[in-house]
Order: sequence, then structure tokens, then C-alpha cells
Amino acid sequence: MKKVYLAMSADIIHHGHINVIAEARKLGEVTVGILTDEVIATYKRLPVIDFEQRKKIVENLKGVNRVVAQDTLDYVPNLLRLKPDYVVHGDDWKTGIQKEIREKVIETLKQWDGQLVEIEYTKGVSVSMLEKAVQDIGTTPQIRIRRLRKLLEVKPLVRFIEAHNGLTGLIVEKLRVSHGDTVKQFDGMWISSLCDSTVKGKPDIELVDFSSRLNTINDILEVTTKPIIMDGDTGGQVEHFAYLVKSLERLGVSAVIIEDKIGLKKNSLFGTDAEQQQDRIENFSLKITRGKQAQVDDDFMIIARIESLILKNGLEDALRRARAYIEAGADGIMIHSKEKEPDEIFDFCREYRKFDKKVFLVAVPTTYSRVRESELIEAGVNIVIYANHLLRSAYPAMVNTAKCILDNERACESEEYCMPIKDILNLIPGGS
Ligand code: SPV
Ligand code: MG
Repeated sequence: MKKVYLAMSADIIHHGHINVIAEARKLGEVTVGILTDEVIATYKRLPVIDFEQRKKIVENLKGVNRVVAQDTLDYVPNLLRLKPDYVVHGDDWKTGIQKEIREKVIETLKQWDGQLVEIEYTKGVSVSMLEKAVQDIGTTPQIRIRRLRKLLEVKPLVRFIEAHNGLTGLIVEKLRVSHGDTVKQFDGMWISSLCDSTVKGKPDIELVDFSSRLNTINDILEVTTKPIIMDGDTGGQVEHFAYLVKSLERLGVSAVIIEDKIGLKKNSLFGTDAEQQQDRIENFSLKITRGKQAQVDDDFMIIARIESLILKNGLEDALRRARAYIEAGADGIMIHSKEKEPDEIFDFCREYRKFDKKVFLVAVPTTYSRVRESELIEAGVNIVIYANHLLRSAYPAMVNTAKCILDNERACESEEYCMPIKDILNLIPGGS
């Protein structure tokens, strides 16, 4: 009996996959390599169904003899292990991001006279088409909350970026960039107090109240499915924080980050230029504990943000606080810095790694923006937040256009800075 190998993610299965398996079966005994959750999450998106369940589904498909894990996009490690006589794939991978993977398969098979058999692509159906249909149906608060924990389970670094309204939420939801065989995207939305205040023309001093912040979140929730982390400022009074936690859970927000400051909060990036006071460890720990007691959904997370480095209170203070906040029940620690280089963040991470009890680690590389995601992964950071970049890039563009109209006393010259009317009309489907 000849050995036949094919690989798939099997997260969304359609009749095109069944056709490929049926053809493979004609050639011999079929082994299916199922991409692991880590591979799918890193290179595509979070799988809808986890590995063990996908394995069970494929094992029960007619014509499949065996299922193995494929833990790289690259087929080569599994091919070297299994030495199949045939690899079967749809003929749609000759161009595009899978082209290189295909070439490697052909090269490797040559080593034992194996053969690549390509089946005509089944027209009218594709995983991306079905993915879009699923996305259009939407999500529920529970599913959305849980998605952050799932991402943390399978991705080395979960990537968030600021969104401050429905439109920026849609950018985060939909934008995809292909690099070689990898599709990169943001994993979720950060609701920044700085950006949410700034778009309302207000300073970032907890002046925009939670009702207004929750309205912003609602606008984003309405048009997206990815998880949300809210910047909860100081979380307010201990007694009030419990109510915020319940409101966020009801909406489907995955996590809130609260910072250990007290009194009139100012933005951290002022550093010691603005007078700011760090909360007492006991008080802030109590706030965390009360928040944890208030939550109903086990998946919701409270992340404690440590301001010791911002306020120049030193690494030791930051570490002491991290230990106490974890003890109080924090699901994650955000360590913040406004230095131009990530050295003090890495110092913290190095000491943090020695903790017996660890939780997720969050970094916000606004001032130390040269740091690479790979370096953050190496330091042990689990979530990176690009905290203000969509608003910071939009504002100068808008001022530039407004100036151009004033300078020319007409709009014609500003057209080159603007998207065509046709494009803006069609940006959001359903308007015509
Ligand atoms: C925010 O985005 O509002 C933050 C992060 O809190 S920072 O601006 O760096 O303080
Ligand atoms: Mg903030």
C-alpha cells in the first residue's frame, strides 16, 4: 500500500477538503497532518475549534487512515518523518503565500522519488469565504471574553492596538498583512484613556466618565468580534471598581487594566513632570481583590499596572508590587516605562521570570518603540499594546488637510490627501 500525506488546518471544513481526501484515498493509505493551534494562531488567526477536536473530526472522515500533528507551516519535518509516496494538495497553492511551501515539498519528495499530486481546486468555496460569513454573523459577550485567554494559550505574543471608535475598531478587526507564508494581524483592541479622552477634546485625567467610555466600547463592539482590553485608569474607588468589572463583563470586554495611582491621575508619559501619586500597595491590592470577587465570568481578567518605573520609585518597588498584586488575584501585570530604551523593562522581566507565581505580562512600548516583538517574546512578555498609534497618525493628517484648504481658499488641492468619495461611500457596506 502506498503512503499518502496531506495537510490541513481542518478548522472550517468544506466539500473541497472532502474532494482532496477522496482523491488521496485512490492513491493509497491516507495520513492527514493537522496544523496545531499554535501554528494556526501564529500564521493565520485563532482557530475556532481546538486541536484535539479537529483531530477527532478528521479521524472520522471517510478515507482517512491516520491523523498526525503538523507543528510548522512547512511540511518538511513531517515529510522527513513519514516519507510518503505522495503528497496531495489542491492546485491553488502554485501562486501566493503557499508557493514557497509547495516548492519545498517538491524538493523534499525528490529524496525518495515521492510525488506531489495536485487536485483541481473546488470552485465556489474557500475557507476565507466561509470565515467572512462567520464573521458577519458576529459573536457573543462570552465568546469574545474567552478569546483573549485562548489567544494567550496559543500565541507567543498577543498583539493589541488602540481603537477609539467603530471605524478604528474595523481597521483592527480586518487589516491583514502577508509576509511570505505568514498572515499578520492585530489580535484585539485597546481602549486607551488617552485616546478616548483626546478624541473627545478632553485631557487624560479620568474626566471622561465610565458611562462615556462604555459608549465608545459599545460602538466598537457593534462592528467587531475581536477581544477588547480596556484601560480602566485607576479603576476609581475600591467600592466603585466592582461595578465597572460587572459592566465590562456584561458587554463582553476581556480584560481591564488598572494602574496603581491615586488622586488626580495624569498620563504616565508625563513621567515625573506631572505631580502624580502611587497608591499604597494594600489599597490597590484590595481593589484588585474586590474586582475579582465581583466578576461572574471566570475568563474575565483584571490586569494590574505598575507605575513604579514611571514615577522613578525603582525596580525593587515594582517587583514588590508585582508580587503583592499577584497575591491579591491579578490575572496579569502590566509594567510601564517611559524610557527611550527597553532596558528597565527587560530588567523587570529578568527578575520577574524568577517568581514562583507568575501571571501574564503586558508591555506598552510607546517611548521605547524600537523594541522588536521578538525581543519582547524573549523577555517573557505575553501581550504587547500599541497604545495610541491610530489616533496619533490620524490627527496630523487631518490638520494637514484643514490647513491646505485654508491656504488655498478651496478644497481642490486637499484632494490628494483624501480618499476618493467613491471609496468612502463603499468603505462600510450596506449604505446604498
Ligand atoms: C493610555 O493609552 O491611555 C495609557 C497608556 O494609559 S499611556 O498613555 O502610555 O499611559
Ligand atoms: Mg491611560
